Amino acid sequence: MDNKKSLYERFGGDQQVSELIDQFYYKVLFDKLLRDKFLKADMSRVRYQQKRFFSQMMGDKNTQYTGKDLVEVHKDLNITNQQFDKFKVHLKNIAQDMEVSGAAFRRITRSR
Ligand code: HEM
Repeated sequence: MDNKKSLYERFGGDQQVSELIDQFYYKVLFDKLLRDKFLKADMSRVRYQQKRFFSQMMGDKNTQYTGKDLVEVHKDLNITNQQFDKFKVHLKNIAQDMEVSGAAFRRITRSR
């Protein structure tokens, strides 16, 4: 593994982060514990800003988060610890699935 590369690059860049965000909110919006929180949200905006947030956090130097203040956005949503934990579970599962399949794909293409 090349440690000089950012997590963003190692994960697969723009396309993979888009995929991650799409799959993540697909799970979140089907989750009975979480979906009600998003009923009034503009989901195309949330997806777009979350993608920018993740890209920046994962080390993409060309992207800056341009969304709302995150404390302000969430402060009146009354998010419980259980909801926060479930949100993280979805994210972790998808990130793991994608990294595993990405690594497996790279192994297969290298061996040919
Ligand atoms: C580390 C955890 C989290 C991060 C980094 C995060 C990040 C974000 C971002 C970037 C936005 C878009 C802001 C914008 O529109 O400019 C957003 C909106 C939102 N988030 Fe989160 N979020 C997190 C956890 C959660 C959790 C646990 C819930 C609920 C279960 C939640 C519910 C929402 C909702 C409902 C909106 C839309 C609010 C609105 O449009 O008024 N978020 N979040």
